[in-house]
Amino acid sequence: MEQGYLIHLHRKLADRIHEYWVDAPLIAKKHRAGQFVILRLHEHGERIPLTVVETDPEQGRIRLIVQVAGKTTEEFGDYTAGDHILDVVGPLGLQTHVDDWGKLIVIGGGVGAAPLLPIAKAAKSHGNTVNAIIGARSKELLILTEEFAEVCDELRICTDDGTEGTKGFVSDVLDQWCDQGAGYKFGIAVGPVPMMNAVAKVLKRWEIPGLASLNPIMVDGTGMCGACRVTVHGETRFACVEGPEFDIHGVDFHELTLRNRSYTEEEHEAVEHLHACHLTQAINHVRTEA
Ligand code: NAD
Ligand code: FES
Repeated sequence: MEQGYLIHLHRKLADRIHEYWVDAPLIAKKHRAGQFVILRLHEHGERIPLTVVETDPEQGRIRLIVQVAGKTTEEFGDYTAGDHILDVVGPLGLQTHVDDWGKLIVIGGGVGAAPLLPIAKAAKSHGNTVNAIIGARSKELLILTEEFAEVCDELRICTDDGTEGTKGFVSDVLDQWCDQGAGYKFGIAVGPVPMMNAVAKVLKRWEIPGLASLNPIMVDGTGMCGACRVTVHGETRFACVEGPEFDIHGVDFHELTLRNRSYTEEEHEAVEHLHACHLTQAINHVRTEA
C-alpha cells in the first residue's frame, strides 16, 4: 500500500499553476484562514510551505494551489490524482486576526490570490465589506477571479499587459480606488515581495493600516531553524510561528528580497539536474522500446 497523503483531484489552472485536493482529514478539520502546511513529496524531497486555499472538513480534504517555481514544485507539477505526497504537516502559523474593519481592501498579485481567498472569505463572514484587486501579468495567469467575485462586494481585475481588466499593477489600481474616495479602513496584501512593498507605499500614502502575508524561505516550520526570520519594526520575527502575516508598514521588504535570493543559484542547479534526469530517462525509455 502507498504511504502518505492521497491526491484526490488535480487540475491545471494556468501555465505552471496547479490545483490539488489532498486527503488530509486532521488538517481539514483544524485549519483556519491564513495558516499553511509544509509538505515533502518523497523521502529525498525538500520541505516546502504552501498555503491552504480551502478545506472540506466533511470529506477530510484540503485544497492547495502550487506555482512551479523550482525543483520541488516542478516535480509536484508531475503529480496527479491517485499519487501520494509523503508528508503534509500542519496547520502551521497563526490564523488571520479578523477584526471589525468595516471596509476592507484585499490585494492579490499572481498566485498570491490563492492564500488571499480564505482571508477574504473569513473577513466577509465576519461582517466586513470586502473589496478585492486581483492582478496578474496576463489574462491567462489570472486565477480564482470567479470565486473572488462571489465572495467580495466589489472586484477589480488588472493585468500588466492589459489583456483583461485595467492595464497596470495592483498597486496602481489601489491608488486609483483610494483617490476615488473608497474609504478603506484596512488592507491585506499577498503576492510577490515587490508588489507587497508597492502596496505598502500606497496604503501609507492614504494612511490605511494593513497586513502583508510573507513568504520567506521555510525549513522546519516550528520556530527552530531560523530560516524564515524577517524584520518587522526593527525586530526579528519568525514567520512560521509568529506569522505569516505582519503589519505591512513595519516589514523590511528589502531584507526579505535579499534573503529569498539566498539559494537562487542552488535552485537553478537543482532544476538543471532534474531536467538532465528527465532527459536521461526519456533516452533510456526510447532505447528500451527500440
Ligand atoms: P507576478 O510577478 O506575475 O506578479 C503578479 C502581480 O503582482 C502583477 O501582475 C502586478 O499586479 C503585481 N506586481 C508585481 N510586481 C510588482 C511591482 N514591482 N509593483 C507593483 N505591483 C507588482 O507574480 P507571480 O509570478 O504569480 O509570482 C507570485 C509570487 O508571489 C512568487 O514570488 C511567490 O513566492 C509569491 N507568493 C507569495 C505568497 C505570500 O504568502 N506572500 C503566497 C504565494 C505566492
Ligand atoms: Fe524554521 Fe521558521 S521555518 S524557524
